[in-house]
Amino acid sequence: MSKPLIVANWKMNGSLEGLKDFFEKLDLCEYAEAVVLPPAVYIRDCISAIGNRAIAVGIQNIWTEDAGAFTGEISASMLKALNIQYVIIGHSERRQYMYENDKQVNDKIHLALKAELIPIICIGETLKERENGQTDLVLKEQLNSAFENINLDNQKNIIVAYEPVWAIGTGLTAEKNKILDAHSLIKETLETIYNFNIPILYGGSVNADNAASLINIENVDGFLVGGASLKSESFCQIVKNITKNFERS
Ligand code: 13P
Repeated sequence: MSKPLIVANWKMNGSLEGLKDFFEKLDLCEYAEAVVLPPAVYIRDCISAIGNRAIAVGIQNIWTEDAGAFTGEISASMLKALNIQYVIIGHSERRQYMYENDKQVNDKIHLALKAELIPIICIGETLKERENGQTDLVLKEQLNSAFENINLDNQKNIIVAYEPVWAIGTGLTAEKNKILDAHSLIKETLETIYNFNIPILYGGSVNADNAASLINIENVDGFLVGGASLKSESFCQIVKNITKNFERS
């Protein structure tokens, strides 16, 4: 990936009024790819508000089947028909509050790829797991089960996001050495399965102040941003700050 990828995960935030304001004030630059993941109910409004601005749209979740009696759920194939490009799979908030498990994560990846969506697969350890020295084990297990029987011969568009659970929404951005170690481990693990490069994003309290230094950590190819992506000004500032610093080709 030659440009950093900056993904705005709005989670369950925002309003119709707010999104108009967000896109009116959007001021991006060509040195980064930007993606916005609004709540599903706002997807179509986002697409029309974006017009021809250079920002892609994705969704925060899909279901594990393509159609059927699954009240309240949305399938990958429905989204493809709306020109949605990205989908987050396995965010820690879904693992924690909706009890999403590794098997479901794997099923969702299969369906996303089948619908030609680009999955952003989230992995990350809890504070307890880190304190118990289990970070590497947890990351490897999450990766290996997520990618079980995932054939990427035809569709190489897939992304992993390392989001330490304890850094999400807490203001406690992971220290550089922890991000470096985790991203190296993820890269090495993926290299044992696939013979091409899979981009790795970092997520967890990224903001306009820390983005420029975080982007220079080896194997950090972009960010998954929560709180600081809700306002156009702070989101655009992240994009601008990192593009000044992104040195890889
Ligand atoms: P924050 O940027 O609010 O810590 O959220 C990160 C996240 O969960 C993005 O998916």
